[in-house]
Amino acid sequence: MTAGTLTRVVGALAEATGLHGVALHELVRVGHVALLGEVLRVSGEVATLQVFEETTGLRVGEPVVREELPLAIELGPGLLGQVIDGIGRPLGRLAELSGAFIQPGAAPPTLDRDARFRFAPTCVVGDRVESGDVLGAVADRGGFQLALLVPPGRSGVIVDIRSGELTVLDPAVTLDTGAPITLAQKWPVRRPRPAGARVAADRPFLTGQRIFDFLFPVAEGGTVAVPGGFGTGKTVIEQALAKFGDADVVVYVGCGERGNEMAEVLHEFAKLVDPRTGRSVMDRTVLVVNTSNMPVAARESSVYVGLTVAEYFRDMGYRVAVMADSLSRWAEALREVGSRLQEMPGEEGYPTSLASRAAKLHERAGRVRCLGRPERHGSVTLISAVSPPGGDFSEPVTQACLRVTSALWALDAALAHQRQFPAVDWATSYSLDATAMVRHFDEQVEPRWSSTRARALDLLQRDAELREVASVVGPDALEDRDRLLLAVSAALREFVLGQNAFDPNDAFSPPAKTFALADAALALFDRGAEALAAGRAFADLPIDDVRRALAGLRDSVPAQLEASRQAVGQALAAVASQPGAAERGEP
Ligand SMILES: Nc1ncnc2c1ncn2[C@@H]1O[C@H](COP(=O)(O)OP(=O)(O)O)[C@@H](O)[C@H]1O
Ligand SMILES: [Mg+2]
Repeated sequence: MTAGTLTRVVGALAEATGLHGVALHELVRVGHVALLGEVLRVSGEVATLQVFEETTGLRVGEPVVREELPLAIELGPGLLGQVIDGIGRPLGRLAELSGAFIQPGAAPPTLDRDARFRFAPTCVVGDRVESGDVLGAVADRGGFQLALLVPPGRSGVIVDIRSGELTVLDPAVTLDTGAPITLAQKWPVRRPRPAGARVAADRPFLTGQRIFDFLFPVAEGGTVAVPGGFGTGKTVIEQALAKFGDADVVVYVGCGERGNEMAEVLHEFAKLVDPRTGRSVMDRTVLVVNTSNMPVAARESSVYVGLTVAEYFRDMGYRVAVMADSLSRWAEALREVGSRLQEMPGEEGYPTSLASRAAKLHERAGRVRCLGRPERHGSVTLISAVSPPGGDFSEPVTQACLRVTSALWALDAALAHQRQFPAVDWATSYSLDATAMVRHFDEQVEPRWSSTRARALDLLQRDAELREVASVVGPDALEDRDRLLLAVSAALREFVLGQNAFDPNDAFSPPAKTFALADAALALFDRGAEALAAGRAFADLPIDDVRRALAGLRDSVPAQLEASRQAVGQALAAVASQPGAAERGEP
């Protein structure tokens, strides 16, 4: 291996000479402590490096050694339930090795070398296999079943295949060509893992959050930008989706955000049970953590590490959801490196390549036919928080994301201020998948799903107009029908769109409950309109009883759903049958 010499260190960047034949994006070990770095630029004799660890203490003249490989991550059993950093080091094991402060140059492998996993082959000696073919099943921790695949680009005839308990480096399958296939496989994180053709998204990524499932549903394999200013609820949304989103595997990338939030995630996920499988949420989750106090270069790579992990599970035929919090920090890392490299800056100092990089990153999401046999489909759904400074969505990162995502869930500071959570602005949010996904809800959940959604959107629109009028003429000057509409839209906002992430009974709303609430809120409009048409006054309608019943429905657990629904039905019937003042003999 050729050793070069460190000639310059500026923050996370360094320069070295003497790295003969070094390629762009190749990994290097920098200095006597062998910090992990990556080649960003090669110009003549000089290679510019970004260093993934703290560079304090590095001195000019120290050696730089080529790894002759790009930044790659080990994929295999034992990844689920792990917390890894932005370059794939397992944080738990790092802490065991070096205490709370990560030792510079520490490089424990991602996967545990001692752990054993049961491999049950589905192929036999003599079988000819190709890229992506399933070779057998691997039992991961927590009962999760993985598939061992022929790595992309490999093919051959099986000359040996083992079964039983294997470590990640034991030869599981030997082909007549190349090295044995092990449970652990490496993949360079900046290169998308190959898949077959993209296939049409055929079902929604169920979030368990009413406002998303009901108003702005996205397809499995879709991409969403969730921009919002500080404190508007981005992290709460990302965490709720990681806990309750209907995915086989969740990859949560904590990119450049506060460390205590990640500590919270860890603490909570360990205790949480997946409502669908009854297993711990952590058993299907991989956390990639690069908090704001960790080196900036690894912040940029953490997103690619997360996507590579997601693609690994996708290739087995799983539905994977990736939560990235936040892509703004990823873009800021690009900006910082770009400015240190003295590249020509684009808008607001971001590199001119920001838009194309954002596009490439989002292209790694999607629903695909997996490579190899048996035929299977897998998906990566990407939900990214964006933190525009001052909540201004016209800034470059938000715009770069919006150009390529299939949905926008726009968070609004005014709604957050009113504690209307999730603080999603329903007037500006959209999902390009909505039409197709709503059809799915009609077929699978309730035939009136789409018509109910259309009515709700219409009502919210009229509510906005009416509230403007009311702010001028005063609410008392409104006609009874308009006051009824305001009452109904208030109920919609509070009981349908609003959802308290910290209420154990309501943090996750199954589609049946989402529909029941929306349907009941709109029925209030119908029953109320009937009562008004029969000559009753708005002030006499028992709206508060209905609101109480709606709150009961919202707070009900699935076993109580039917009873709560009936209670709402009774409250609604009372609206229509409420005697008017004249019938009660009042003056
Ligand atoms: N769905 C929700 N239910 C209840 N409270 C929420 C919800 N979303 C956000 N909040 C409140 O808003 C605060 C800020 O949310 P957070 O996700 O940390 O904002 P951001 O990540 O956008 O800065 C939370 O600590 C919580 O008090
Ligand atoms: Mg946050």
